[in-house]
Amino acid sequence: MWLLVLACAREAADPPGGGPDPAPPAWIVTTAAPAVESVAGPTTAAAPVLGYALLVWDIGPRLIGPDGASTDLDPSVPPPLAATRAHTGELILLTETDLLTVGGDGLASPSPLLELLPEVPRTLAEFEGDLWLGAGDRLWRWRSGVLAELHREDQPISGHFAVGGRVGARPVVWVEGADGALVGLDVDDGAGRATIGAANADDWAVDDSGRLWFTAGGALFRREANGDVWEVPVGAEAWWVEGSPYAPGVWVETAGAPVHVAGDVVTETTVGPGADGRGLPTGWTVDDLGRLIARRSDALTRTTVGRPLGILGILPGEAREVATTVSLVGPELPAEVTWTLARCVPGAWCSEGHEGANPLAGDAVDPPAWGGGTWWLAAEAAFGDGETAAVGREIRLISEVATWLADVEPLFELRCAACHGAGSNATPLDTKESWITFYASIVDRTVYPEETLAEPMPFGDSDGLPQAERELILAWGDADFP
Ligand code: HEC
Repeated sequence: MWLLVLACAREAADPPGGGPDPAPPAWIVTTAAPAVESVAGPTTAAAPVLGYALLVWDIGPRLIGPDGASTDLDPSVPPPLAATRAHTGELILLTETDLLTVGGDGLASPSPLLELLPEVPRTLAEFEGDLWLGAGDRLWRWRSGVLAELHREDQPISGHFAVGGRVGARPVVWVEGADGALVGLDVDDGAGRATIGAANADDWAVDDSGRLWFTAGGALFRREANGDVWEVPVGAEAWWVEGSPYAPGVWVETAGAPVHVAGDVVTETTVGPGADGRGLPTGWTVDDLGRLIARRSDALTRTTVGRPLGILGILPGEAREVATTVSLVGPELPAEVTWTLARCVPGAWCSEGHEGANPLAGDAVDPPAWGGGTWWLAAEAAFGDGETAAVGREIRLISEVATWLADVEPLFELRCAACHGAGSNATPLDTKESWITFYASIVDRTVYPEETLAEPMPFGDSDGLPQAERELILAWGDADFP
């Protein structure tokens, strides 16, 4: 089983007929690598945003939704501390001084909730239609137009909370209580459902299994649904933890780099020195879908756990991954990405190809059945506003044994047929027989163009053939022209 995966990245892609790729990949496989998307151009300021939506303050405040659709916001809106989406669909933004409601038109207005609250909240989250707000030692739930403050004489609570955990079947909001305890309060009646005594947690979050994760003294712990609490080893000191009640696992900051932990293992280390060459993030958060949003030196990146980055190739006989990336450049995330893989003559025609949608989910392809040769991989992205963008690049699928049909003829079609087709002025080279007849001259002109006394081929192409194609021509001769 081979998988095709694409990702969007901010680097230039070769257009059809563009420069040859120095190290083309062969087979395409997937790995459990994460997808790292750049979600905006150079971003000087991006608010650490909790919640459903992501906001980018580069070209003015702009909301990029989880589906890639973007809305320009009222320019007077300051970068928010937190944002979430109410069950009514509107966006709620929390800034230093205000609680704002943003409608579908991008216009912000003060939330009527603020009038009901004695102070501006500092934290905000949504869970199953309820809006939760916290400040200092106060915690409020807004449900169906009713604002309720959770207040417990016996167990003073903090406005720092994680909502959506479960104790048994009951959803709870976890807050810090007296004496460093973590207390799970029923989201409906506020009754204490569970207590982790002397947890002395520095930070806490819940996952979609209702488990509570917390850090204490640099270690990470997890409370199972049955009440057991385990330490989860992450190989470094862990202080900050973020998660979503709608996504598995949590992100934990270790040595400055957030890592994703699910179960007992670190599943992803994606953001940090060496991970993608961008250095440590200067700030990060997690959205409701469990994706990491990190502010980096040159961009804002959004990392989806366990999704591959780029098209990964593996050379036959060699268990080596070769990453290539199809790049989509845009100020926002595409709402939908489709791909096609076809044999193409750049600028001329493409044979009927293979196609699929949503490549990030991984589409199965079968290179051995398709045959080797040069393929054109195209990806088209549709953005929320109806705009589309297309990119593409050449990839090479190399068969175990180079054959005329699978390898050489496609190479001929791609690189030579424009001038050497049947009936052309230059010597026709459209048949296997003609290639055998002219093989020595072809090798001279294409494999060793620097040494030949004749005109190198392809005519007028100063780069000549990519190395892999030169090797293919030699391999075909070595195999006695199959
Ligand atoms: C842009 C047009 C063009 C392309 C593309 C091109 N050729 Fe040529 N080719 C020519 C021309 C024109 C000649 C005649 C020039 C000469 O006398 O050397 C020629 C000559 C040749 C010859 C010598 C033929 C003979 O009769 O001795 C060979 C072999 C050849 N090409 C191979 C190739 C191969 C293989 C490719 C693809 C990898 C290729 N060419 C791509 C235009 C092209």
